[in-house]
Parts: sequence; structure tokens; C-alpha cells
Amino acid sequence: MTHADATHSITAALTRARSAEQPVEGTPAPRPRPTGPSTTLPPELDRVLRLSLAAGPGGRLRPVPSAGALHPVDAHLLVGPGSALPAGRYAYHPLTHRLHRRGPAPSTAPPGTVAVLTVTVEPTAAHYGHRAWPLLLLDIGHAAAALALGGCPAVCLDAPGPLLAAAARLDATDAPPLAAVRITADCPPDALLRWAVHEPTNTTNRTDRTNTTDATDSTDATDRTGQPPPARIRPARLGQGAGAPNAGEPADTHRILAALGQCADTRHHWQPAPPVEVPDSVLLTRRSAPPPLLGAPDDAQLVTLLRTAAAVHPGGPSWCVATGGPRPALVHLGDHGRLEALATGDARPTLAFWAARQRWIATTGAMLLAHGCPDDAPPAQVRALHQGAGYAMGHAQLAAASMGLRSRPIGSWQRADLGAAIGRAPGRDWVLHGLAIGRQPDECHEGDDDPS
Ligand SMILES: Cc1cc2nc3c(=O)[nH]c(=O)nc-3n(C[C@H](O)[C@H](O)[C@H](O)COP(=O)(O)O)c2cc1C
Repeated sequence: MTHADATHSITAALTRARSAEQPVEGTPAPRPRPTGPSTTLPPELDRVLRLSLAAGPGGRLRPVPSAGALHPVDAHLLVGPGSALPAGRYAYHPLTHRLHRRGPAPSTAPPGTVAVLTVTVEPTAAHYGHRAWPLLLLDIGHAAAALALGGCPAVCLDAPGPLLAAAARLDATDAPPLAAVRITADCPPDALLRWAVHEPTNTTNRTDRTNTTDATDSTDATDRTGQPPPARIRPARLGQGAGAPNAGEPADTHRILAALGQCADTRHHWQPAPPVEVPDSVLLTRRSAPPPLLGAPDDAQLVTLLRTAAAVHPGGPSWCVATGGPRPALVHLGDHGRLEALATGDARPTLAFWAARQRWIATTGAMLLAHGCPDDAPPAQVRALHQGAGYAMGHAQLAAASMGLRSRPIGSWQRADLGAAIGRAPGRDWVLHGLAIGRQPDECHEGDDDPS
């Protein structure tokens, strides 16, 4: 596909995802999971994955939120020399919180561990149809945020798909890779490039054997044979089930995500994760509050949320908040860091309509909004703004929790042309993501949230 073709097809897919067209629900294919011998995680990986991607006890799906609770994001860990584990490529199994060895490391592998994040498209595409792919980009951003909040030093939201695939040894039928996270502090910024180096098999086998002798007791016996059967995450074949009502959506979603990651060079940027001092218990118990979310945050809290979202991902989407109460308005941070009105009046009923008619949004205390991404945005910008919106919203949700506020991410937006709604040029400034926010029930005042 040429660059012009890719841009054209992404523009068309974006227009369709933002339209009123209802998705047709399909039948999700069985979720692929890593198989084969597995090993426990060494301490430097155990904590951060437990705080971000691991399923928890008592039916807790994951610490990270996800559209429809479908949790499509998986992590491939590239473990360099010097770890307690033999260097190599591993697939992380979120349900067992164990690693499955997929293959050896190249001799160029750097120290430390880097994760390549992929999205399994089938469950989300089966549920949300043509609206799935923007949600998957938001989910990737939330997963990267969860890893950053768990203590990882840096995230990369713009690495080209082919570079990520080469580093993690994934092919076109695997779940598309869309982001990377440096898990340990000793992992250098050129980690992806060094993992992507292709070497003849005999060289890589030597690397594997060398490192296998370093294996600790945390590695299963089957992993110490020197020839572990490589485990692979295999998604259902693209186009499988042709003839079913929704057969096209998973394949289309896969194709769109792959096209978004296409890039001719290997340039990418690491963004340092901001230092966050949050007790592990807060990360592990974070939940999306069930609606309704009543009671407006105060102005200082709104400033903190807007600042957090903008600061963690400079160059990302724009941010504003819709508030209710006695002076309903759409506010953003002005040049002097103070709240300024973009528009007056109550935007919440319109937001409720745009967000797949989720009526409770009309009375939510406030809605933090990531917006931007014009109709004709090039593919790289579409990807960056959606992933950035999810990443920053993950940080904002934790900031809300730290201030004692309740919150819930909102991901599906139709005809949500915010710019046009406030009198600007249409098609330039769309709602990408939202965070509905409310106070604790015992702090709400009667009538505060009445949109009438
Ligand atoms: C990208 C994204 C979009 C979401 N969209 C909605 C939404 O439109 N409506 C809603 O009620 N919840 C939405 N959620 C919240 C999920 O339903 C919630 O994260 C999931 O059920 C898991 O629950 P938990 O966050 O409490 O762990 C969204 C979450 C994410 C990350």
C-alpha cells in the first residue's frame, strides 16, 4: 500500500468510526494465549507487571482499565543479559502472571528489559465493529500508562510497527505491536534497534545457551534444557469465519492498525515517565466507578487534572473539561495556567448523546476531554493522538483517584465534533477520549448536577 493509499484508507476508517453507523456485533474468536513451558518473573519484573497488566484475585480482571473490559493488550518482554532470567524473548501471560519463552536474544541485545505491547483485535472488533480500532489505540495508551505508573522509566508511543515487530520477532499474522515500554532503568534508548538486529540461527543459539547457564531457580526445569519449545501467541487467522455478519471487522481492524504503524524509517521517541508516588495498593485497587458520578470537582482539582493530562504527554491532544453546577461551561487551561471558558452552557447532555447515548453522562460532575485530530490527519498523527490520549488519561485517572474523586473513562464517540459545536471550523477538533468524574457520594450536594 502506498503512503497516499494508507492515508486515504485511514481517513475513511476514521470518518466511519466517528459516524452514527451502528456496529454489528460478531462472535469473538477464542482468545489466543501463550503456551509451552513457563517461568516465574524475577523481582524487577514481577512488581511492575502485577501493578499493571496481571489479572488479580477475586475476579479482578486487570489493574488497568479497558474498553468493554476486554483487555486486548499483551506484553512481549525482551530480556537482555544480566537479568536473573536467561536473555531472550518472552510472552507475558496476564492470567497466570508467568513468562513463556519464545526465543533467544541476539548477541546485540542490550541489558535491561523492554516490553513490546500488542493488541489482540478480535474480541474488541467483535464487540465494537468498525468503532474498535480507535478504542484499541486508547487501550494501548492506558496499558503504557499503567506500566509507567507502576515504575517503568520510559514509554515509546510512536515506534514504527516494523521495528517493534522485528524487535519482538512478530509477523503480520500476530497481534499488531503498537508501543514499547522500558521496564527496567538499565535498558538503553536504542534497545529496540538492538533487539531488531537479525542474526543467523547458530549465533543466536549460542547466545541462548550462554544465558541458559545463568538460569536461576525461578526458571522451570523445562526451560533449562537449552532447547525450549518456543511459545507463540497466535491470533485467529485473518478473515476467519468469512460469511458471518461481522467477518470483515477483525480483519479490517487488524489492517487499519498495521497501516497506522507503517513507517519507512526507524525513528522513535522515548518519553520519560513522570515520577509518581502512589502506594501500590492504590494502583491495585483502582476501579472505574460505576455510574452515576455526581458532584463537580472544585476548580483546583480541575486545574490539577488538566495539568496532569497535558504535562505527561506534551504534543498530545488538547484538553478541556465540561462542568455542570450553577455555572456550566467548557473550560481549559489558559496561558497563565488558570481555568478559562472555551464556551458557556452545559455540554454534558450533548456529550451523553455523542458517547453512544450513555444518559448518565448528562449528570456527571465533570467530563475531562481529550480532543483534536482533524478529519485529514495523517496516519502517524491519528495513531499518536489516540495513543497519547489513552496514555495521558491513564495518568489523569490516577490523579483523580489520588484526590479522592471517582472517575470512569469513556471511549466511544460519534459525531463528536467539539470544534463545530463551539462555533469553530467543522471537522478539525473531535472528541477522542473522556473521563467522567464525580465526587464521593457523601460529598455531593443536591441539585448540583441537574442539567435542566
Ligand atoms: C478506552 C476505554 C474506553 C472506555 N469506554 C467506556 C464507556 O464508553 N462507558 C463506560 O461505562 N465505561 C467505559 N470504559 C470503562 C471500562 O468499562 C472499564 O475500564 C472496564 O469495565 C474495567 O473495569 P475497571 O476499570 O473498573 O477495572 C472505558 C475504558 C477504557 C480504557
